[in-house]
Amino acid sequence: MNVAAHQILISEAEVNRRIREIAEQINSDYADKSIHLVCVLKGSVMFMCELAKRLTIPVTFDFMSVTSYGSGSSSSGVVRIVHDLTEPIEGKDVIIIEDIIDSGTTMNYLLTFFHERHPASLKLCTLLDKPSRREVEIPMDYVGFQIPDEFIVGYGLDYDQKYRNLPYIGTIKVD
Ligand code: PRP
Repeated sequence: MNVAAHQILISEAEVNRRIREIAEQINSDYADKSIHLVCVLKGSVMFMCELAKRLTIPVTFDFMSVTSYGSGSSSSGVVRIVHDLTEPIEGKDVIIIEDIIDSGTTMNYLLTFFHERHPASLKLCTLLDKPSRREVEIPMDYVGFQIPDEFIVGYGLDYDQKYRNLPYIGTIKVD
């Protein structure tokens, strides 16, 4: 595969501005509460940190790691937990933090998984939404940006595990 140089799709300033807006919305929605943020590794880690820095309500963190079985760009719909939550979520106001909702396979599984553990409330916050690829409907509470069907890198998202550290959202052409 040949990978051309990446191009900026959403600038660092624009990402920061949008994250600040989402944080203000969450601060308002949970004004008298505390929230439990669950980061879905690895892609969501930068978004989680940047969002959490801007929250003024009490916050706790946990992390999950999952993989989706499948080949190429198609997924079998089977998700495997690589690293489970370290704390119970029962009775907590939980927000799942994702970097991208693509086919929806991963989040469809996770929403069922989380609901079965009886949180007081459960919301989903994703930095990116790629609706053109959706295979299963996913209810989203906080969305950073809707993006076109291009290969996205940066701000946590990778190509072959690289580019996650880019401070902006970019696209690459993969031949
Ligand atoms: C990405 C992303 C979501 C999932 C979305 O994770 O972080 O979890 O894919 O795709 P879907 O909507 O089609 O299920 P990935 O498996 O690439 O792992 P990573 O976060 O470690 O890069």
